[in-house]
Amino acid sequence: MDDPRWVATLLEHWEVGQQMGAVGPGSVRRQFDHATALAAQVAPPRRAVDLGSGAGVPGLALAGHWSDSSWVLIDASARRVRLLSQAIRALNWGDRVRALHARAEDAARHPDLRGSADLVVSRSFGPPAVTAECGVGFLSSEGLLVVTEPPDEGADRWPADGLALLGLEVVAGPDAEPVRIQRLRRIGSIADELPRRAGIPARKPKFA
Ligand SMILES: C[S@@+](CC[C@H](N)C(=O)[O-])C[C@H]1O[C@@H](n2cnc3c(N)ncnc32)[C@H](O)[C@@H]1O
Repeated sequence: MDDPRWVATLLEHWEVGQQMGAVGPGSVRRQFDHATALAAQVAPPRRAVDLGSGAGVPGLALAGHWSDSSWVLIDASARRVRLLSQAIRALNWGDRVRALHARAEDAARHPDLRGSADLVVSRSFGPPAVTAECGVGFLSSEGLLVVTEPPDEGADRWPADGLALLGLEVVAGPDAEPVRIQRLRRIGSIADELPRRAGIPARKPKFA
């Protein structure tokens, strides 16, 4: 079956993003197919956040697959957010997808965003402790933080005691294939002090 029209528009933007270093090497089609496989592994959210979205991998692709979902794509790089905004305009998704130029640590304290997302996705954002701390503030009480795992990394990089310090726990699941993901869920309420100030989660990670 032919791709829906939005796919070609998205891939054109990802190619531009690749030229400016905002999309990793290799075929952008492959990255899209990876996001498509991810969409099949996770329940469609109502409200979602892509943490460190870059050029929108995987958030923009997931927003395309789940046309009833609303998204905030967050990135600290103004150039990347400009590219995201152009893509959102070209795709005509402005009523449900927003690009936000912010540090995730700051955005997670915004009243509109704190505790708002039933899904937070993260790909290549940072080490587990940084991703977990930056992601937890966005999660609703039922929310899931889904992190795509780099190849060759073991599940031991998500220690239960470290995650508990951030109010998260691992959700066990058959998620080794086709896309390796780690699912985390919130335990209880979001601690007032989380996330710490911008830069602190990376400089002083809660666990190694
Ligand atoms: C390696 S890129 C990955 C981008 C995209 N998710 C992908 O897989 O192609 C990491 C992105 O996270 C953003 N980033 C890193 N730390 C951040 C923070 N604390 N708040 C917001 N964005 C951040 C960077 O600007 C960068 O665009």
